[in-house]
Amino acid sequence: MKWAVLVGGKGSNLRALLSQETPIALVVSHRSGVGAIAIAEEFGVPVEVLTKGEYPDRQHYDRVLRQTLHRYHIDAIAMAGFLRWLTKETVDAFRGRIVNIHPSLLPAFPGLHAIEQAYRYGVRWTGVTVHFVDEGQDTGPIIAQVPVRVDPSTSLEELEIAIHKVEHYLYPKVVAALDHHSVVLGEDGKIEWHVSQEEVRSWIDGLYLV
Ligand code: GRF
Repeated sequence: MKWAVLVGGKGSNLRALLSQETPIALVVSHRSGVGAIAIAEEFGVPVEVLTKGEYPDRQHYDRVLRQTLHRYHIDAIAMAGFLRWLTKETVDAFRGRIVNIHPSLLPAFPGLHAIEQAYRYGVRWTGVTVHFVDEGQDTGPIIAQVPVRVDPSTSLEELEIAIHKVEHYLYPKVVAALDHHSVVLGEDGKIEWHVSQEEVRSWIDGLYLV
């Protein structure tokens, strides 16, 4: 499959995906001048920058986004720090082939600054979620989740480091599983695994208490 990664920030997940040789044919950024663009260039991956201000509304934005994805013959999309909600048309065009990574155990703490939200709330466990994208905001069927413990002595900075470490390990694994059709979104909207649960558990168990 040809993957596009949708970005808008530092690009650390993009680097993790590229380092694991995910077949990424395109990077789309919703912001110019971000670290993710430099990382794409370092790996020789084409970049398209589509900023919000260039388009009157989400419909126009997403129409150009879909045209761009089709121009590069993209089959599947991994979102990593792309702070734009996709329209129904875009989700429908790629349903079951768009995933997102979110730095909390959804459905807790959706939206921006999830690590900080969880930390300020005082949770003892938070984590990372990879899910299929639907029309909602950080909703959609959950593919994998990994918990991260928050000790009373853990600082916000330490928690951020721990969460990102999990992200960088987990996301390439899930994207590879999707790429090999080891996990698919069923017609009924449920996750179907075509590899053993032991294998899935082995990635996740390797991440406990990082
Ligand atoms: C990650 O924490 C991801 O979970 C969230 O946005 C952040 C992107 O970071 N959706 P990076 O640009 O990949 O470093």
